[in-house]
Amino acid sequence: MSPARTAIMRAPRAARTPVVRHHTRVPYRLPDSPPGTTAPDDARVVQVVDRPGIIDLAWGHPDVDLLPVAALRAATAEAFDRYGPDALSYGRDAGPPPLVEAIRDRLAATDARVPTPAEIVVTAGASHALDLAATLLLSPGDAVLVEEPTYHLAVRVLRDHPVDLVSLPFDGGGLRTEAAAETITRLRGAGRRVRMLYTIPTFHNPTGVTLEDGRRRELVALAAEAEVTIVEDDVYRELAYDGTTPPSLWSIGAPGSVVRLGSFSKTIAPGLRLGYLSADTALAARAVASGVIDSGGGIAHVPALAVATYIATGAYPGHVEDLRRLYRARRDALLGGLAEHLPDASWTQPRGGFFTWVTLPGGLDAAALLPAAEARGVSYVPGRRFYATGDGGRSSLRLAFTRYPEADLAEAARRIASAVRDARRG
Ligand SMILES: Cc1ncc(COP(=O)(O)O)c(C=O)c1O
Repeated sequence: MSPARTAIMRAPRAARTPVVRHHTRVPYRLPDSPPGTTAPDDARVVQVVDRPGIIDLAWGHPDVDLLPVAALRAATAEAFDRYGPDALSYGRDAGPPPLVEAIRDRLAATDARVPTPAEIVVTAGASHALDLAATLLLSPGDAVLVEEPTYHLAVRVLRDHPVDLVSLPFDGGGLRTEAAAETITRLRGAGRRVRMLYTIPTFHNPTGVTLEDGRRRELVALAAEAEVTIVEDDVYRELAYDGTTPPSLWSIGAPGSVVRLGSFSKTIAPGLRLGYLSADTALAARAVASGVIDSGGGIAHVPALAVATYIATGAYPGHVEDLRRLYRARRDALLGGLAEHLPDASWTQPRGGFFTWVTLPGGLDAAALLPAAEARGVSYVPGRRFYATGDGGRSSLRLAFTRYPEADLAEAARRIASAVRDARRG
């Protein structure tokens, strides 16, 4: 059995009682603190703070119990044995060829077109790839189009650049492409430069929605015609729960019209900070020639070699299959809990990814409800956080279903429903 499968099976999820999560991460201790004491907050080595008694569906992270610690430890050691000092030297600018080949193999299994090696650049995750794309494509004052709602932290990355964000409408079929065309025409008519459209067409964050096939074709046609580069955030491609993942915009778009952002954060581990972009060869070459790579060498060289070595063991497809099976069951448990406890609300039916998007009944304000929800032991992100420019999403909330076993997810739905019931009575 592969090390990844062993890691997953070691966690006795089904036997756990619901409600309070005690994940298996070892609490960090300062070197000189007495045994048994946990670290003060500023000594934490991770982002997440687990709050006792709260089923926290706010974090869009993988389950820590599913991170392949043993397999990555072994792969890292093997990479050091294999590459010796080359593992610790400045890395090849575009990323190590074994990783580039591994990325191409996975895209051969999950997408409609495989990039050539010259179309791939290894990055420090999708966040860094987005920042790099913005650096290469944008000038001060440009208008950047973003669907609303959208991934709130991508907005943070874009706001690090001196550009204006302009929102595009979104519905159950994804980004509304006709509105995108109208917006580009209107902005250009007003003398604005429009160079980039950022979108998450597949298993969207925060809604879980997947862009319809017809709209995919319309969108890539629009990008080519209007000479706007689509930046396609494709981090959930591997995590399909009902059938296959649709072809990426990158795979169906004209060369040069789409930059795709990929990541190992969702399928191996976010702490690796490892991902890639696929673009046309000219843009990929510009990325490779960028100052940050010229100065520092290939990005995340040690994680890149470790992941390439891990994937070469053959364990990765089975690991992804395990994640898909577990996350599919969790999605179903959460949606089942919503159907049972909160039938007056509406929610999306994600075919993959990490999230569902719930709209509360009676126009309730999700942000105002949050303290009552947390008092009942459940948390979420209010929908407004995902509106970069407008004030939409007032009655909506994002729930991530990846970090808890099924019984906890059903219980989370019950607790939200209890907060909703009391708010509607009051
Ligand atoms: C849509 C989307 N893009 C990017 C990221 C971050 O990716 P990475 O960890 O590779 O920077 C996330 C993580 O939540 C995400 O949901």
